[in-house]
Amino acid sequence: MKAKQPICSVLMLPWLAHGHVSSFLELAKRLAKKNFLIYLCSTPINLKSIENKITQEFSHSIQLVELQLPALPNLPPHYHTTNGLPPHLMLTLKEAFELSSENFSFILKELQPNFVLFDFLQPWAATAASSLKIPAAQFFTTGGVTSCFMIHFSRKGSLRFPFSSIYLHDFEEKKISQILNSSSANGVRDADKVFEGVQKSTSIVLVKSFKEIEGKYLDHLSILAGKKAIPVGPLVRDFIDDGDDEGKASIMEWLDKKEQSSVVYVSFGSEYFSSMEELQEIAYGLELSGVSFIWVVRFPTGENIKLEEALPKGLPERVGERGLVLEGWAPQTKILRHTSVGGFLSHCGWNSVMETMKIGVPIIAMPMHLDQPFNARLVQDVGIALEVKRDINGRLERDEIAKVIREVMVEEKGEELRKKSKELSQTMLKKEDEEIDLVVEELLQLCKIGKTN
Ligand SMILES: *[C@@H]1O[C@H](CO)[C@@H](O)[C@H](O)[C@H]1NC(C)=O
Ligand SMILES: *[C@@H]1O[C@H](CO)[C@@H](O)[C@H](O)[C@H]1NC(C)=O
Repeated sequence: MKAKQPICSVLMLPWLAHGHVSSFLELAKRLAKKNFLIYLCSTPINLKSIENKITQEFSHSIQLVELQLPALPNLPPHYHTTNGLPPHLMLTLKEAFELSSENFSFILKELQPNFVLFDFLQPWAATAASSLKIPAAQFFTTGGVTSCFMIHFSRKGSLRFPFSSIYLHDFEEKKISQILNSSSANGVRDADKVFEGVQKSTSIVLVKSFKEIEGKYLDHLSILAGKKAIPVGPLVRDFIDDGDDEGKASIMEWLDKKEQSSVVYVSFGSEYFSSMEELQEIAYGLELSGVSFIWVVRFPTGENIKLEEALPKGLPERVGERGLVLEGWAPQTKILRHTSVGGFLSHCGWNSVMETMKIGVPIIAMPMHLDQPFNARLVQDVGIALEVKRDINGRLERDEIAKVIREVMVEEKGEELRKKSKELSQTMLKKEDEEIDLVVEELLQLCKIGKTN
């Protein structure tokens, strides 16, 4: 097949976290289908993790570009990603990323893209682009609500916010303020970096979201940011059923034996590790609920924790066939799409939320940190979730966990949630990725500016 002349070339620079890289990649695919040429720039270790997701169809239109970070002590190249990074090295990674701006400039000079899309903590990428007269825009891989809060915090120093359905508990406000208030190498607060990136953007910013669930927050973001906030859609990865290896087949067989919508799937994302105390409460909560479950448990690599020792004594015997505890990884999409699954006990990471909405399964929200409390309040407000409340100190309680699981899985309230979830899923399927047309239109305008410089 002869490649068509691309209508615009875009260089993308995501933050070094898997969820961010994969969101940029999904956007890259949609733009590539509209005849854009995409350079996806990241560290070798991150690029390696997505190589095999770039199918033949995109072999010309999406090109991976390696960004070399400086060799800092304690930060060997396999730590040039947040995936598996020991938490105490996060600041070092942010430093190293910023120090790579000169190398990033070399890349820009060589490739001469028409446009640059950068992530939320790297205004330096916009600076590099602007010194070469290349227009650039920030792409928020978080939702509109979270994006609003970050900018609001930078400008007003508080998280008090004009939407009553999106609130934070004191213990959450403390934690989130700390994160937004924390600074990287050069002493600039993270929240201010987010805002600086917005200021350095051309006339638009992009947001991974869609109007039906976040219309009013996107409008508010446009006002706060002083830039048009354009939703790019949910960017859910196409489901590819890559067959049943041994591990998967046994999970599917187990699910096949369960009744429709009777199983709750439990997972907290690939980058969150529960404390031992949380693990116990969740385990007892699941036991007390009496509901069937698949629970994915993860421990940080290198900590050598044995699953049997981490779980309450005798739990496997007591729950028997009713529960399946998996360590490390599970085919999440395939499980969520199974008709026996009737709820997802989730941390409410934005990518998981988007995927779950599209599949149409109600959420039992148990936000852990970062932007997750915002996402949890949003899905509850949209009517597809119930949240597990924490005590005043932010601790989980087994009785509350069991109660909310039963409300969603067994009681009448669950029917409403299931109905609403199905409706939203239908809407999303019908629209497909219609947001992308508007994104293309906007980018083409801006690419023209990039080309005439
Ligand atoms: C720039 O890239 C080179 C390899 O091309 C690498 O050796 C160097 O450490 C990088 N410098 C910085 C400051 O990132
Ligand atoms: C942010 O940090 C500053 C100084 O480090 C501190 O005075 C302020 O109270 C912090 N604000 C919040 C909301 O944590």
